[in-house]
Amino acid sequence: MGQRMIGMFDSGVGGLTVMKEILAQLPDVQIIYFGDTARVPYGNRSREELIHFGEEIISFLIHQGAEAIVVACNTSSANAVPVLKEYYNLPLIGTIEPGARAAVQATATGNIGLIATEATVRSKAYSSAVRRVLTKGILPKKTELREAWQKGGHSIELVKAQACPLFVPLVEAGLSHSPEARGIARTYLAPIQEAQVDALILGCTHYPFLAPVIREILGEEITLVDPAQAMVEELKEVLEQLGHNQEKGQEMNKTSNHHRFFVSGDPVLFEQVGNTLLPGQIHSVKQVSWHQ
Ligand code: SIN
Repeated sequence: MGQRMIGMFDSGVGGLTVMKEILAQLPDVQIIYFGDTARVPYGNRSREELIHFGEEIISFLIHQGAEAIVVACNTSSANAVPVLKEYYNLPLIGTIEPGARAAVQATATGNIGLIATEATVRSKAYSSAVRRVLTKGILPKKTELREAWQKGGHSIELVKAQACPLFVPLVEAGLSHSPEARGIARTYLAPIQEAQVDALILGCTHYPFLAPVIREILGEEITLVDPAQAMVEELKEVLEQLGHNQEKGQEMNKTSNHHRFFVSGDPVLFEQVGNTLLPGQIHSVKQVSWHQ
């Protein structure tokens, strides 16, 4: 079998930032995307709700033919993925471990920052993951910091986690480049600037939509760490295990535009906002409701 079907989900358009990275590196996979736009934002949901939403969506994606699931939502990854992994007998790739890995490798000072939703910050999933990846031997690329840490003379940790609850609604409304977004970002990012971090995890898949605004405020000194790239590395390993045949997949891809999009809310808004990130690629979005 050549082309593999990957299921992906997020509370809305945010997961498309991960899909963009997947398509850049693995143009031959077939994606079934679910945006839970009727229940966005997830950032103030309880852990129980997030597990329940995850179960509904993953079951739907499996029914559509997904062979592996990319949880392209940090809030779900932080709060629900550890439990959901126990429920399903197929690979589940979340954002947390890949994001922590990328941040540890990127920092030169050991001071890592996080911007995320309230539920992700509250979970402390990223600070635990930073400690975990260090103990697994994944270390900063910067030699001086790596050696200092190995000698026990320097800490590498998440020193500041800032919740940014208005970012997701701004992105979903297509207001990522608005003056409102700039003003709100200035307020949220002030504590990050004060904490003097040098690597900042974009701990919500919606935030890359705001990267130009964030970059404008923080300047070039801070590395913005998007977990998406490291997630794709994990996905490549999963595809290898599934016996994905890259060449055959590419052949099939020449003749078919094959991705499918589902939302629980407004398909037109999803298509509009999604196409600002992936021009011309979001189409025939279907609305799904299992609550009727
Ligand atoms: C949200 O819908 O509030 C969160 C999306 C994410 O955490 O990536």
